[in-house]
Amino acid sequence: MSYDALAPVYATLERLSFGCALQRARCASLQAEAVPANVLVLGDGDGRFLEQAVKAWPSATFVMVDQSAAMLAMAKRRVDTSRVRFLQADVRESLGVIEGERFDAVVSHFFLDCFTETMIKRLVPDVAARLSSHAQWFVSDFAAKAWWQRGLLWLMYRFFHNLTETEAWRLPEYGEVLSRAGFSSKRLGNWRAGFVVADVWRRD
Ligand SMILES: C[S@@+](CC[C@H](N)C(=O)[O-])C[C@H]1O[C@@H](n2cnc3c(N)ncnc32)[C@H](O)[C@@H]1O
Repeated sequence: MSYDALAPVYATLERLSFGCALQRARCASLQAEAVPANVLVLGDGDGRFLEQAVKAWPSATFVMVDQSAAMLAMAKRRVDTSRVRFLQADVRESLGVIEGERFDAVVSHFFLDCFTETMIKRLVPDVAARLSSHAQWFVSDFAAKAWWQRGLLWLMYRFFHNLTETEAWRLPEYGEVLSRAGFSSKRLGNWRAGFVVADVWRRD
């Protein structure tokens, strides 16, 4: 089973588990200080962030890359706009599908947690090479500190690892990888006692 099979129930499972917290985290990026013009959206799944982003940033154009055909089909139904280009591709195999393009924002909500640190170390420079110098990188994800948060995350990783092609078994230290690549973060918000966080990263 892959994200294709999970796509029809993904939003329902999310709401049963987290209520509105994940969507609030995604939408925290829409209060960006600088409104972007050309946005790369990595693995937006069923398009719930994209739907809000096209409204909030009416002059922006978007490229959304996701490997799941079913997720992309749902996103296309949700976001009926000529300002979004949908690409089906596996980011592990390179972002060659967007060769020659330059973005002033990249969005990865609940996406970096799909990968191991080794993969993120390859992905971050690949993405960074396609960004303008003042670009913003919006990231929402989980942050497990308390015992119950670590326990819940452990269960979630078992679920996703068994049902999808997710290769990771634990939350990667993506913040360390971004920091080493020259990005610094500003917290946009946190939800569920800090279990869900949203940040914007910029190059120093
Ligand atoms: C955990 S879901 C997150 C979806 C959405 N961003 C959200 O906020 O809920 C991960 C998404 O990334 C996509 N994905 C996972 N691995 C990928 C890869 N290697 N390349 C491209 N997309 C991938 C999946 O198809 C899925 O839509």
